[in-house]
Amino acid sequence: MTSLLATEDLTIRFGGLTAVDGFCLKVHEGELFGLIGPNGAGKTTVFNMLTGVYLPSEGTVHCDGRLVNGMNPVQVARLGVSRTFQNIRLFDELSVLENAMTGAHQHSKINLFDSLFRTPRHYREEKRQRDIAYRLLEFMGLEDRAGLAAKQLPYGHRRKLEIARALATEPKLICLDEPAAGMNTGEKAELSALIRKIRDELKVTVLLIEHDMKLVMGICERIQVLDYGKTIALGTPKEIQNDPKVIEAYLGGE
Ligand SMILES: Nc1ncnc2c1ncn2[C@@H]1O[C@H](COP(=O)(O)OP(=O)(O)OP(=O)(O)O)[C@@H](O)[C@H]1O
Ligand SMILES: [Mg+2]
Repeated sequence: MTSLLATEDLTIRFGGLTAVDGFCLKVHEGELFGLIGPNGAGKTTVFNMLTGVYLPSEGTVHCDGRLVNGMNPVQVARLGVSRTFQNIRLFDELSVLENAMTGAHQHSKINLFDSLFRTPRHYREEKRQRDIAYRLLEFMGLEDRAGLAAKQLPYGHRRKLEIARALATEPKLICLDEPAAGMNTGEKAELSALIRKIRDELKVTVLLIEHDMKLVMGICERIQVLDYGKTIALGTPKEIQNDPKVIEAYLGGE
């Protein structure tokens, strides 16, 4: 199986703190892969290095065989890596549809001239972005809310809108940072099914950070566990659940 995403000895230090230490990750194309670990383990920091937000102190990130280190977030997104944020980042005053369109904007083929003079290409491009965004709102079950301002959405729907926007960039890999945080049981069950559909129907590889063990164990094929910046386990949900180091890391943090 080919690795879509591969990191080698990824390390980052903040002052005296080594937040991620020698992290090796291989996510295969088409996989639904979980990254878990106690609070402060370094999970979001890994996402920040994968997506060009942080430059690693050491080590490499490759996506689709290309070196990601040194690229900025826009370049990484163009390469096909998209993400959502642990703290939701939407444009509150824009509509739900416009928020999703900001994702589709990334592959825009228009230039400044087209925008300034509203050329036919400008309108074609806007329609393309609108169509992609609307299809993804339908996919996420948000099409009825397309005209609302993002700030009017309840919390669970805001999380889903973030995913729709990330998908609108037409990624190969989507990195979801705690997408179920703040959701109720029913919303979590629905989200599980949606994440599966993202992989199965949209054929997007999924890398998932999530604290809800039922959700992670229920949908991930392989899981890697971080603790204090280091990998302590890698395996199937069953292997992870029975791993003494993992049990210790979680109980130790209680
Ligand atoms: N920009 C930064 N400057 C200094 N320290 C940082 C920075 N970013 C992260 N850290 C530290 O790195 C460690 C890992 O943080 P990170 O947010 O990656 O953890 P996490 O696994 O995502 O935790 P949680 O489950 O609570 O979201 C923490 O000790 C955090 O304080
Ligand atoms: Mg985090």
